[in-house]
Amino acid sequence: MDHLTDLFKFDTTTWILGGTLGVAFFMYDYWKKTAFQRNGVPGPIPLPLLGNALTFRRGFTSTITDLCEKYGKAFGVTFLSSKWLVVRDLELIQQIMITQFSSFPNHGPDNPFFQDNMMKSSVVVLSDMKWKDARNSMTPAFSGSKLKQMTPIMTDCCDNLLAKIEELQNQSDFIQCKELFGAFTIDVVAATFFGLQLNSQQNPKDPFVQYAREALAVNVFSFRYIAGSAFPLVGRFFDVIDYGLFPRHIKKFFTDLTNQVIDSREKRKVRRREEDGNHGDDNHHHKKIQFTNADITANTFTFFMAGYETTTSTLGFISYLLATNPDQQDKLIEEVDQHFPNGEPLTYETVNKMEYLEGVIKETLRLYPASSLTDRYCEESTVIGGVTVPAQTVFIIPIYTIHHDPEIWEDPESFKPERFNKENNHKIHPMAWLPFGGGPRICLGMRLAMMEMKFGVVRILQKYRFETCPETEIPPVLNISTGLISHQMVSNFELFRENE
Ligand code: HEM
Repeated sequence: MDHLTDLFKFDTTTWILGGTLGVAFFMYDYWKKTAFQRNGVPGPIPLPLLGNALTFRRGFTSTITDLCEKYGKAFGVTFLSSKWLVVRDLELIQQIMITQFSSFPNHGPDNPFFQDNMMKSSVVVLSDMKWKDARNSMTPAFSGSKLKQMTPIMTDCCDNLLAKIEELQNQSDFIQCKELFGAFTIDVVAATFFGLQLNSQQNPKDPFVQYAREALAVNVFSFRYIAGSAFPLVGRFFDVIDYGLFPRHIKKFFTDLTNQVIDSREKRKVRRREEDGNHGDDNHHHKKIQFTNADITANTFTFFMAGYETTTSTLGFISYLLATNPDQQDKLIEEVDQHFPNGEPLTYETVNKMEYLEGVIKETLRLYPASSLTDRYCEESTVIGGVTVPAQTVFIIPIYTIHHDPEIWEDPESFKPERFNKENNHKIHPMAWLPFGGGPRICLGMRLAMMEMKFGVVRILQKYRFETCPETEIPPVLNISTGLISHQMVSNFELFRENE
């Protein structure tokens, strides 16, 4: 004990110096946190060190919606060491995401993907030219012709989905949508990006399914995130010792798996070249960046993390909205029957011609946008729309709040797929519907997600209809503690047209 007290025996000069440094740090930190107030930007007054972090204890999405009501179309909040300018003015958002994209092309460092070394070369994390090159090289993988080639994969995954529904129907009166659609989405991701035919509906113990579930359960608001956000230097130290968001054994599993996939694809390519007598480079006409194995791991893992929860919960919300809106469901079933009479197999082109189906999915994403917000980073101090934005500010675009704003959407809480038909589509402001974000940095997997959801919904409605059951929570109480919106979503699938 004596030794311990000895340790803190400093002379007066040391105490004065230490105290002065402490006060200087405190004042500098508070000066940075009050940058919005100095620039006349409205918003809640920050506390020293914490900023407005305590305001967010009820969850991100609901707090942002409440603050929007109180402070208007653009206001500033600070979260630990981060400065956020929340913007819900559509013209301003258009400037940030499109017109002045070159000034704000990147996401901010608070994005969870920034919290792990493995994700350093993820397309979400990359910035400026590096992002542009990577994105240009990845975009063709999501083109219409590539998606069309994925039809057999989607068909197989839908077969597994229907088999599972049939099995669950025999076991219970209701189906938990999150589990059902989660397995469907994992099957699609595993087949598309890892070349694995999983059928996770029947093999929940498959290592891919187990590791995938563990990765998805990682809490974004971990000690690593809070400590790294409060003290950026600590965050950098965590990077040096490779203490990231995802546990090491999960990263090892996905790294090994990606390496195996790359190896076997390379071997197949060489064999095909030898058979064709072609020894040249397939892509010599195109300037493509060379991805390392680590880059490919980071990005396949990104696709998996970005695509799983979003697509799964949207499918759950579609089934909830159709079950609680039977007239709209009848209309959709009619469209399914018109395009695929007698349960015909689905084709990519025909599914894409279904206007009402598109409206149902878009309206679901308006009411329940799986990503309730997105962001852009403002590196240098800028004036935009008359607002002075301090350097290193993150613009927060509150997607959920915009989608429920009565000034933007008439009768915003009602489910009306007709809003998106040909007659009405042109009335929608280009920045009013943002479930996939917007501008050049729009969701890379948007078309894949739309295809996956369309195939899943049509295949189910060829045979079943969605019905509510006593377990269905109406309206659903959403889990909105982070920037993602989800719900367990309980529904009942009634057998449809038993005689056919
Ligand atoms: C319903 C399903 C989905 C929703 C609602 C959704 C939503 C979003 C949103 C809001 C963004 C941010 C865009 C922006 O800031 O402008 C985003 C980015 C992204 N999403 Fe999705 N997403 C979905 C499915 C997918 C799927 C299936 C993939 C798989 C490939 C994917 C991959 C990505 C990637 C890689 C980015 C980052 C793009 C970049 O920074 O260049 N998403 N998504």
